[in-house]
Amino acid sequence: MGKKVTVVGAGFYGSTTAQRLAEYDVFETVVLTDIVAGKPEGLALDLNQSRPIEGFETKVVGATTGPNGEGYEAIEASDVVVITAGLPRKPGMSRMDLLGVNAKIVRQVAENVAKFAPAAVVIVVSNPLDEMTALAQIATGFPTNRVLGQAGMLDTARFSNFVAEALAVPVGDVRTLTLGSHGDTMVPVPSRCSVRGTPLAELLPAGQIDELVVRTRNGGAEVVALLKTGSAYYAPSAAAARMAKAVAEDSGAVMPVCAWVDGEYGISGVYLGVEAEIGAEGVKRVIETELTPSERADLLNAAEAVRAKQADITNL
Ligand code: LAC
Repeated sequence: MGKKVTVVGAGFYGSTTAQRLAEYDVFETVVLTDIVAGKPEGLALDLNQSRPIEGFETKVVGATTGPNGEGYEAIEASDVVVITAGLPRKPGMSRMDLLGVNAKIVRQVAENVAKFAPAAVVIVVSNPLDEMTALAQIATGFPTNRVLGQAGMLDTARFSNFVAEALAVPVGDVRTLTLGSHGDTMVPVPSRCSVRGTPLAELLPAGQIDELVVRTRNGGAEVVALLKTGSAYYAPSAAAARMAKAVAEDSGAVMPVCAWVDGEYGISGVYLGVEAEIGAEGVKRVIETELTPSERADLLNAAEAVRAKQADITNL
């Protein structure tokens, strides 16, 4: 049987994710849902009408959903569910300002996902990311490996783009890595960054690397400040869609994601940005990479900051 992926939330993030997934042409069905009546159906119709031009066969299905599971039959038997539901930031807001409002939305969605697609791998992208991923795991009751969050792919892509621009090299030559949280305790890892195999530290002065690290950490806010009406979605949807594809294809690709950490780096019992092998069961394995002592200290810091916030979410 062909693979089925659902994207919950038909805002810009969700609809561009659905578009990318459909255009990969590897899924039988892409389901797009939203609580705004007609919006997911309208976008699905529009996306399906692009098929003869773009040349893909994946069928897009739109479904309006309600809080008590109305319309959720559409997601039945999904292999992957990407949760984008929730509000985006406005200028001046931190991701953490969304905690209360998005917790209610994500909890409700996650409960319905567990009911209607109990075998799915869930990829969370709603903010604040690390906390919403932890909440989705609690609300679905799924094993921790089957719930993960999208952040590291995006933060890494931003970092790589900045490095490519700074050095005027093709973006495909650049390797970067960010770990930690999708927020203030994001941990870019310059020691693991290189351009065609040459360590970044040999190509840019330390001060300039620091500047790129800071710009990466503020990468989301920089876009929000320009857009004024919402947050980024082209790079975020590219990241989420690649993760969903890795699950559907059981590819084993290693990606920086928000995953449950159980002893790696001496950290346990928290959702944190780490590198992991992604496959049909979600996270196959968290991969512990070599870090400098200061990068390791930053990661431990990030873990404790996230742990403190994640402890609050059960009450939301
Ligand atoms: C960003 C939001 C989507 O980083 O978290 O752009």
